[in-house]
Amino acid sequence: MSVLNEKLRADLGRVREPIETSATLPPAAFAGSDAFAHERSAIFRQGWIGVGRADHWANAGDYSARDIAGTPVLIVRGKDGELNAYANSCRHRGALMLKGEGTCRGIRCPFHSWAYGLDGKLVAAPRMENTPGFERKDYGLIRFQMAVREGFAFLSFDTAPPDIDGWLGDFPKLHADWKLGDLVSTRRREFEVACNWKSFLEVFNEYYHLPFVHATSLGETYDEPDPVDDAEGNFISQFGETKGTGGLLVTQQEHALPVMQSLGGRNRHGTRYTWLFPNMTFAASTEALWVYEAYPLAPGRARIGMTACFPPETVATPGFEEKAQFYYDRLDTAIDEDIVMLEQQYLGLDSPAAEPGRFADLEPNVATFACWYAERMLQH
Ligand code: FES
Ligand SMILES: [Fe+2]
Repeated sequence: MSVLNEKLRADLGRVREPIETSATLPPAAFAGSDAFAHERSAIFRQGWIGVGRADHWANAGDYSARDIAGTPVLIVRGKDGELNAYANSCRHRGALMLKGEGTCRGIRCPFHSWAYGLDGKLVAAPRMENTPGFERKDYGLIRFQMAVREGFAFLSFDTAPPDIDGWLGDFPKLHADWKLGDLVSTRRREFEVACNWKSFLEVFNEYYHLPFVHATSLGETYDEPDPVDDAEGNFISQFGETKGTGGLLVTQQEHALPVMQSLGGRNRHGTRYTWLFPNMTFAASTEALWVYEAYPLAPGRARIGMTACFPPETVATPGFEEKAQFYYDRLDTAIDEDIVMLEQQYLGLDSPAAEPGRFADLEPNVATFACWYAERMLQH
């Protein structure tokens, strides 16, 4: 366990509720190697981590190999239909077994060909019959806990993780209108950004930068948002009405797909921005859901997963693929604009002279995460 230096500790202590009097997270929490090492245990080894939409692994054998805060992980759908997560480290001499994504019948280590089933059991290990006392049953893959709720997949490195429903609290109730569990993923893309993983999630969760960073692309789409919802659980959420849909550029509003049938009242005229702590966020809009996970690779480097989802009835409409392109264009355009700023922000944060600042009232989601993060960093 790493130890935080005194200045970082004091600066994290100045992050507190309410937002009006809180300092922002200290620059060293973004750009420093101490904080980076400490958050691997304090933030990522406790509780639940979002790994995207469960339908990304539609069939048995579908897998992804990911670096999750320094732990290589293999997520794979089992023959029984369950999602499994294993340490992507061979039980023989530790080699990474699979890379990237694909579909497999089992997991075979390329080094000495130990082979594991989708259930993690070691099923073949050449020549090991000559090793006294070696039993295949003792060398299955190391398993991590997984849970699926509302169509989202969560993973925990905790050996005794908190109950997932308790962890999520009011999350299902607050998002019930969108029927998130029924939505279908239609496009996923992954990319790296030269910024801290937290900054990526922050910019997605505040309205303050919209007129400056997205002046022409999103323009006046977003009205002044509601206050954040007073809800229990390890997330923060804020709804705001939009002019037209938040899912399309201002110049392409005529390409709107149908509003989700499940939505009622004001939810038919706005977008809900939610941040599932620590590393997954999404916008539940009128026609679509778009989701991001951020994984730390280095203090100044994050890998991002980006998924767009629509209701099944929308996906079934004629011409869906062409119309969905306009939604993908809007997501890519906005995120490209954000990335320019995020990379520039990191250059300023990564300075010995950078100091904590203060929040504007348009950053409540960011301030709430900052408190959640600072508390855990100081506790563990
Ligand atoms: S390290 Fe995997 S089989 Fe040897
Ligand atoms: Fe943005």
